[in-house]
Amino acid sequence: MNTTIPTPPSADALGVSAAQARNAVLEELIHQNPGRFRVLTGDRPTGRLHLGHYFGTLHNRVRLQDLGVEMFVLIADYQVLTDREVADNLAGHVEELVLDHLASGVDPARSTIFTHSAVPALNQLMLPFLSLISVAELSRNPTVKDEIAHSRQSAVSGLMFTYPVHQAADILFCKANLVPVGQDQLPHLEVTRTLARRFNDRYGDGDAVFPQPDALLSSAPLLLGTDGTKMSKSRGNAIALAATADETARLIKGARTDSERRITYDPANRPEVASLLLLAALCLDRTPQQIADDIGSAGAAALKRTVTEAVNEFLAPLRARRSAYARDRGYLRQVLREGNARAAAVADATLTEVRTAMNSRT
Ligand code: TRP
Repeated sequence: MNTTIPTPPSADALGVSAAQARNAVLEELIHQNPGRFRVLTGDRPTGRLHLGHYFGTLHNRVRLQDLGVEMFVLIADYQVLTDREVADNLAGHVEELVLDHLASGVDPARSTIFTHSAVPALNQLMLPFLSLISVAELSRNPTVKDEIAHSRQSAVSGLMFTYPVHQAADILFCKANLVPVGQDQLPHLEVTRTLARRFNDRYGDGDAVFPQPDALLSSAPLLLGTDGTKMSKSRGNAIALAATADETARLIKGARTDSERRITYDPANRPEVASLLLLAALCLDRTPQQIADDIGSAGAAALKRTVTEAVNEFLAPLRARRSAYARDRGYLRQVLREGNARAAAVADATLTEVRTAMNSRT
């Protein structure tokens, strides 16, 4: 199959198999005692979230929250500047992210939603952390290397090079011990673990100031966009959670398929058809094979009708909640204000501990 997706770093380079092995143990522990976990998770505010995000991350966040795990949801506004010079419409994008989370079921009474630019003490942790990692280590990070190779910027900024350290501050300010991530984020989590260990060794005086957080690897299958490449806002191939039913229908109608009439689930040889089947299956809580069997030789048009209906029906309640929240800007601002205040209190306490450990408190 001819594809335009650039080769990502190999699973081996990212440390995928070790994380996978650890996942089963972690899930068991979460079910036994959700109260011993604190999750930090987040996204960069670059626009509305889409179905790939929903099944990849949002859905899992709500699951963990509802199991009783304490959760911090970061809107990583400073991180937007890693691969672009200007963060367009930042306040608008932050609001879209809050809306997508509330509509999906993240409950601000139980989970803390915040932006990192509103939490000064979090950002200050970056300075001691930067002193604990070498330039050589920073330059070996396979995900950063990959992003630099595909960056649309002419020069690599200092922030691009050091944002994994910033991410360590994002995670460690609240002493999160569990971070749900996709494969590409595993090297960053390794940086966080390394920094936590080095800080404890150098300044902990026998006590661990920071936990060494575990990655909880996302098990969601990769959804392709309507053009057969990775679903992504910037490619115009993504079905936004906030899209209308008509926009959704139009996007799916234009989706790429192949010329074979009989619909089969064959991800290796028919990736576009398989991804549409998978999308319907996720929305209908069935298997892609069952849906393929139902459609049989009715062809791509029937497949697209099935997918459109499944997606629109699945998203209808979420979309209704989303527009209700969107009409209440005062509430949105309150959610962020309270989340930021809660995160700032936690960050202040951690920074005080850090300064005490480093002997820099007078
Ligand atoms: N890098 C993540 C992304 O682009 C967002 C992020 C920022 C993050 N800080 C984090 C994720 C800390 C997990 C932990 O999606």
